[in-house]
Amino acid sequence: MSAEVVIEGLTKSFGKQAIWRDVSLTLPPGEVSVMLGPSGTGKSVFLKSMIGLLKPDRGSCVINGVDIVTCSEAKLYETRKLFGVLFQDGALFGSMNLYDNVAFPLREHTKKSESEIKRIVLEKLDLTGLQGAEGKLPGEISGGMRKRAGLARALVLDPEIILCDEPDSGLDPVRTAYLSQLLIDLNAQIDATILIVTHNINLARTVPDNLGMLFRKELVMFGPREVLLTSDEPVVEQFLNGRRLGPIGMSEEKDAAQMAREQAHVEAGHADGTAGEDMRGVVPQLVPTPGLPPRQGERRRKDRVMKILHTLPPVAQQGIIASLTDDERRHYGVGGARTGFAQPVAQPSPRPRPQPGPHDTQEIARVPEPGWPGGGRP
Ligand SMILES: Nc1ncnc2c1ncn2[C@@H]1O[C@H](COP(=O)(O)OP(=O)(O)OP(=O)(O)O)[C@@H](O)[C@H]1O
Ligand SMILES: [Mg+2]
Repeated sequence: MSAEVVIEGLTKSFGKQAIWRDVSLTLPPGEVSVMLGPSGTGKSVFLKSMIGLLKPDRGSCVINGVDIVTCSEAKLYETRKLFGVLFQDGALFGSMNLYDNVAFPLREHTKKSESEIKRIVLEKLDLTGLQGAEGKLPGEISGGMRKRAGLARALVLDPEIILCDEPDSGLDPVRTAYLSQLLIDLNAQIDATILIVTHNINLARTVPDNLGMLFRKELVMFGPREVLLTSDEPVVEQFLNGRRLGPIGMSEEKDAAQMAREQAHVEAGHADGTAGEDMRGVVPQLVPTPGLPPRQGERRRKDRVMKILHTLPPVAQQGIIASLTDDERRHYGVGGARTGFAQPVAQPSPRPRPQPGPHDTQEIARVPEPGWPGGGRP
């Protein structure tokens, strides 16, 4: 079972501080999506708005016909049961051991017996590599373990929608790789709609079906992974490559003078702290562990993306076609021999931006032009 989340025109501010405006996107049912964005752009605020913990100024977020923004408290309480949420800080109860923390949603929202609860809790602790730690208090375990306990708790109600705020922060690279696989395996097993906020570029490149990015108080892009992974949008390129050179600065935005100074520094031959390789390009997506069912979301996504293929930038189209099997190519009627993945991005030449049709606006959002004061409209 999986749910679609349709967000339209969502806008949030705290007093005079605008966080983001007019965010529109659809999380397709059963697909995995990742939201990127510099620190402080409001990614956590976005997730909290999706479950009604924060109230947006305007716009809608519709799940199974219920608009989270305007519905009654009772409806909100009901709809929240569809969600499993891993908060950025884990949000565990400090005075409860891990077992009771993970059991909490089951005791709060279901009438299950304690023996049934025990089976579920131990299963989820096992899944997240925490077997044996159930008696520990959150203050007695490492940051990475707290994160995994938060994930175990997010999973106990078999959620239709899973929101994960930086699930990898505080995890070592090996555990992050396991976590990436776990998210894909989970998706294969329960067909949940998943949205992950992360700064981990490797996870962003290999896990999701869809990628989006928040910057300058707007949704820069949201669409099939191939679009963002091959994008020559300066802010996306800079972020994916983890470079200092580009529009993003330490305090999110840079002025033109600083950009020029940094450009001159690099042109003078000074290293900018990156490996120098271009991280753009479509790399293979993780697949479920052998023995698990295929991802239903992936199958649905292929049909969905092939329908809008012609609206996507040519490099993204190439990436999508390269990922199809020969059978799929025949099925969709796209030609050419299969050449494999990880094709280097052809040096992006200036290309016409796709003109979104009436149904494509959720696939590729408007790209704010640099130089708009505060990211606002001109
Ligand atoms: N409850 C709140 N009241 C007032 N301001 C808030 C509140 N929550 C968040 N903010 C502000 O909203 C902005 C976005 O915060 P948010 O935590 O969503 O950023 P983020 O993109 O998740 O950053 P990071 O990548 O560092 O986690 C920040 O300026 C923050 O101070
Ligand atoms: Mg955050």
